[in-house]
Amino acid sequence: MQPGRQLEGTVNLAPDPQTYRRTPAQRSNFLEVTARGYALWRARSLSLLTGGPLSLCAEAAYFTALCRPHPGEHWLDVGTSAGFYAGVLARAGAQVTACDISPAMLREAARREPHPNIYYALLNAERSGLPGESFSGVTIGATTGETASPQAMLAEAARLLIPGGQLWIMAQARDGSGAQALLTRFGGLSFADEAQLTAWLPGLRRTDFWRRGNIVFGRWIKS
Ligand SMILES: C[S@@+](CC[C@H](N)C(=O)[O-])C[C@H]1O[C@@H](n2cnc3c(N)ncnc32)[C@H](O)[C@@H]1O
Repeated sequence: MQPGRQLEGTVNLAPDPQTYRRTPAQRSNFLEVTARGYALWRARSLSLLTGGPLSLCAEAAYFTALCRPHPGEHWLDVGTSAGFYAGVLARAGAQVTACDISPAMLREAARREPHPNIYYALLNAERSGLPGESFSGVTIGATTGETASPQAMLAEAARLLIPGGQLWIMAQARDGSGAQALLTRFGGLSFADEAQLTAWLPGLRRTDFWRRGNIVFGRWIKS
C-alpha cells in the first residue's frame, strides 16, 4: 500500500448523481476552495461551537482515551475531510480506510496526512459497497449532519462493524434555534440529539455521551 494512496480512479464508488441527490452542504465540499480551507476552520470550529476552548489535541485525547484504537485494528473514518480522525487513528497504529464523497477533500487529506496506514477511498458512506463486518471501529466526525440521510449512514456504519466493534460520533447538537432551521432548509443540514442517534442504531449499545455547547460526542458498541 502506498502512503496516502487514493482509490479514486481505480475504484470509484461515489454515487451516481442521477440516483443520489447531494445536499447543498455536500456539494459545497466538492469545491477545491472549501477543501483547501477546511483544516483552518476545523482547528477552531469546536471552540466556536462549544463556546469555550476545545482544541484538536483535546478532542484527539478524549477520543483515544475512550476508544483506545490500537495496532491490528482496522477503522473506517467516514467523511474524513482533511483527515483529522484518520491521522489520529493511524498514529495510534491502526489501519484506516478514510472515505469521503468529495474528491477534493480526499486530495487535501492525502496531502495533509500521507500516512502509510491510511487508505483513502472515494465512496458514499450511506451505501459503501464494502463487505459487512469489515471494521473494528468507525468514526463519523461532523458528517451525519451533512449527508442526505443520516439514518442510512448510521445503518451502514452499524453493518460495517464487527460484533463488539465501536462507533464514535461527533456531531452538531440540535438546539431548536431559528438559525438551525434555516441551515436545514437551505443547506440540507441536520442536527443530532442523543435519542435520535440511539434510535437509528438498533443493536448498538451507547457507552458514553457528552454534550458541550452545540457539540455532542458519543460512543456505541455493536452487540
Ligand atoms: C464536516 S466534514 C467532516 C470533518 C471530519 N470528519 C473531521 O472530523 O475533521 C464532512 C465531510 O463528510 C463528507 N461527506 C458528506 N456526506 C458524505 C457521504 N455520504 N459519504 C462520505 N462522505 C461524506 C463531506 O464531503 C465532508 O468532507
